[in-house]
Amino acid sequence: MAKQVLKTNDLLFCTRPFFEATKVLTYNFLDIAFSPYDNHWKEMRKVFVSELLGPTRAGLFNDVTEMEIEALVQSISSHPSGTAINLNNKLLALVFAVMCKVAFGKSYREEPFRGATLKDMLDEAKNMLGGSIGDHLPILGRSLDKLSGWNDRLKKCFGNLDGYVQMVLDEHLSEISDNGDQKDFVHVLIELSSRNNANGSYGLTKDDMKALIMDVLTGGTDTIVVTMVWAMSEIIRNPRVMQKLQHEIRTCIGRKPKIQRSDIMQMKYLKMVVKETLRLHPPAPLLIPRECMNDCQVGGYNVFRGTRVLINAWAIGRDPRIWGDNSTQFYPERFLNVEADFVGENFDMVPFGGGRRSCPAFSQAATTVELTLGNLLYFFDWEVGDGLKNEELNMEEKGSLVVFRKSSLSLVPTKHN
Ligand code: HEM
Repeated sequence: MAKQVLKTNDLLFCTRPFFEATKVLTYNFLDIAFSPYDNHWKEMRKVFVSELLGPTRAGLFNDVTEMEIEALVQSISSHPSGTAINLNNKLLALVFAVMCKVAFGKSYREEPFRGATLKDMLDEAKNMLGGSIGDHLPILGRSLDKLSGWNDRLKKCFGNLDGYVQMVLDEHLSEISDNGDQKDFVHVLIELSSRNNANGSYGLTKDDMKALIMDVLTGGTDTIVVTMVWAMSEIIRNPRVMQKLQHEIRTCIGRKPKIQRSDIMQMKYLKMVVKETLRLHPPAPLLIPRECMNDCQVGGYNVFRGTRVLINAWAIGRDPRIWGDNSTQFYPERFLNVEADFVGENFDMVPFGGGRRSCPAFSQAATTVELTLGNLLYFFDWEVGDGLKNEELNMEEKGSLVVFRKSSLSLVPTKHN
């Protein structure tokens, strides 16, 4: 059924449903993630893929990621020995720094804006993107949204984020126009906005630019952090996996002072560990809602045009019919004999979705996770602390669009010589 939904009806389920918050927070659906399936979406996705994820920006992505990971390793090394570190906070700071530096040219996270940090503003936006009562019960629900103060919250949330993104744009506009090799994503968007459609390029409006920046901030931060935190949790809970993984990493690296992107290619077990994490803990368990574009049949059921379709990536990843009796066990070796990949023709696991609306950043995201985990496990040994055994780590979940650990992951690092 899951395979049939994604494979045979990809085009039928390519559009997104209308939610009030997505309309407001995406400047009337000008972004990629929540836009309907139309020419505008195609153009925005093209800009995103070629200008943010493509080869021109890949060098900057790699350099910034490696630099920030080095800073993370140094900061953990200087932590008082024998005491626990909140890995959620550390990894969030890392991913924010990478995303903001690649997209904006510098890390904006530490500076509060209108009394809130960027993270607080994004957390609020992500809560609202999950939808309101009015999105699910349109007639009565809209009045409830008004009475409960939800509409005012949305207005405030958009006002703050829009002000923030406007500040980023203004700062870039006031800089000298020739930035040479140092161009970040916002510089490129501004350049594209000054061209017009006549020469074949897409003339971006100010709202197009803001909507794209919002996609980087909402799509590119929590998802990566959540994956790293679940990976570290599973590794800690499974000492056998930790030992095998550290052996692989330390054997590959020898005495090199740091791990680089090129080293990761040889680390087959590390790649399997990340795949296994995304199978059991897809950060967006129901992906992003889709909507049926034409009447169709799925698994013998009639599905009418306009029906909202939620794809349960969490259940697909744990389905014993696909993954066998040990489907809920963290067992990376299962990928030795299984063809399954993140995206593509095989829909046995879909942490990045599938088909035309799949995540365009899956490759960069997976490499960032692999590189960070590789460094954390090369330089340090980890324990739960507080007298608990590693196997006793709490694995409860919480969240809506993105699902986190219920409690932060606090671990005690020991520097490995
Ligand atoms: C481990 C990290 C990530 C995971 C698990 C993830 C997961 C997803 C999922 C499930 C979707 C919806 C797919 C669907 O409906 O079929 C999606 C879409 C998207 N993601 Fe990601 N994502 C990650 C990282 C990123 C990053 C780093 C960025 C940006 C820099 C990003 C940008 C986007 C965008 C723009 C879309 C919308 C695609 C469209 O509708 O055409 N994601 N992602």
